[in-house]
Amino acid sequence: MKLCMVGTGYVGLVSGACFAETGQNVVCADVSEEKIAKLQAGEIPIFEHGLDEIVRRNVAEGRLSFTTDVAGAIAESTVVFVAVGTPPRADGGADLSAVDAVAQTVAEHAQREMVLVLKSTVPVGTNARVRRLVADAAHRIHVVSNPEFLKEGDAVSDFLRPDRVVVGCDADDPFARDLMSRLYHPVCLDRDRIVWMDPASAELTKYVSNTMLAMRISFMNEIALLCERVGADIHAVRHGVGADARIGPKFLYAGPGYGGSCFPKDVKALVHTGREHGIELELAATTDRVNARQKGLVFRKLRAAFDDDLRGKRVAVWGVSFKPRTDDIRESAALTLIDALLADGAEVVVHDPEAGENVACRYGDRVQIASDAYEAAKGADALCLLTEWRQYQNPDFDQLKQIMRRPLLMDARNIWSSYGLRRQGFTYEGIGVRGS
Ligand SMILES: NC(=O)c1ccc[n+]([C@@H]2O[C@H](COP(=O)([O-])OP(=O)(O)OC[C@H]3O[C@@H](n4cnc5c(N)ncnc54)[C@H](O)[C@@H]3O)[C@@H](O)[C@H]2O)c1
Repeated sequence: MKLCMVGTGYVGLVSGACFAETGQNVVCADVSEEKIAKLQAGEIPIFEHGLDEIVRRNVAEGRLSFTTDVAGAIAESTVVFVAVGTPPRADGGADLSAVDAVAQTVAEHAQREMVLVLKSTVPVGTNARVRRLVADAAHRIHVVSNPEFLKEGDAVSDFLRPDRVVVGCDADDPFARDLMSRLYHPVCLDRDRIVWMDPASAELTKYVSNTMLAMRISFMNEIALLCERVGADIHAVRHGVGADARIGPKFLYAGPGYGGSCFPKDVKALVHTGREHGIELELAATTDRVNARQKGLVFRKLRAAFDDDLRGKRVAVWGVSFKPRTDDIRESAALTLIDALLADGAEVVVHDPEAGENVACRYGDRVQIASDAYEAAKGADALCLLTEWRQYQNPDFDQLKQIMRRPLLMDARNIWSSYGLRRQGFTYEGIGVRGS
């Protein structure tokens, strides 16, 4: 049996390589000639921990290949995964044009009875629409929803050891159920992690999960603002709240606002789906608004520190990726900060362990990219920590004190010690940290 992964981005490449790792014969297809050429030449176009090794191994052992011939790859497969992008439209809804294009190609080129698996994040009702698109194919196409929950930075281990695998599939469809069970069996050996449900519920589960997580972050970001006003400390509040077993400690960290290719677009898309069905999803809509406000916070703090005049000030930014261990800068809070700094006439110099190339693509020579973190901080009037890469956790503050023009630290991830740094003579600002 051949498996075709259409869309070879963060999700498609990881999923395709991991399925190959479990013994499947996988072809990853993508319309991006540049991406496929790199993969065929043995280069991995994204940074994702552990991916390099499994791609190389499975290519070498003949289980993984790459092609731009999407129709040809579909024609030779029994299962086709759709892992193409579903970016936001201007009205907040998801742009499904790539999903539709793949469905149409499947309808035209399927050579046998097959399962079409929607792995991209798609609004509720998409499975039903795709079924209509493939209804007239020459062979029966079973359409299954299997939203992906992997996290960039831990994508390979998440895929191979998932919390759960959500499969939306008709209860009376043994062909699709059997195939999905077999595909995921190797990652469910210790316990059955497949959560079976109907396709509409599976589609909704993905959006609800992401919105729930985003909501926790936005709530703590709001509470951090309150902490600053009332002299409380967000670290203490987080510890106290997270110790409640009903709440738990995860996703309670105040910061510069959530980013990435999923939370911002998925929260907006859920709100949009609600409106389409006549329901104003107030909590989700507010989560989005709170996040937009939070993404401007570091800039507002910085401006206040410079009496509203950042012209000619040199600002160093450590970390641009939306979180550590990825080179993905999509919707990162660092971009909001950099855009605002540039618009205000500041000079921006950034350092990021992996995202430099993506930053250069976006800003060209409007932003300086330092190859070393201390190089970025040299002569800076302020240093802003936006992404908590491990190497920024304990920098040499004595050295920073010497090389910076003004000892101002904006710690948007609350990873440094406000007490210690203030004793060392820095001006320290965190998010909701006592004294900020
Ligand atoms: N990135 C994540 O962490 C993550 C996690 C879970 C779910 N998702 C969802 O998975 C989907 C893919 O996300 P991603 O981050 O991998 O996106 P991506 O932008 O990294 O990759 C998408 C790929 O699809 C390709 N593509 C677009 N149209 C195509 C077509 N018609 N035929 C073939 N290939 C086509 C693009 O060239 C690109 O390489 C999205 O719906 C996203 O919301 C992403």
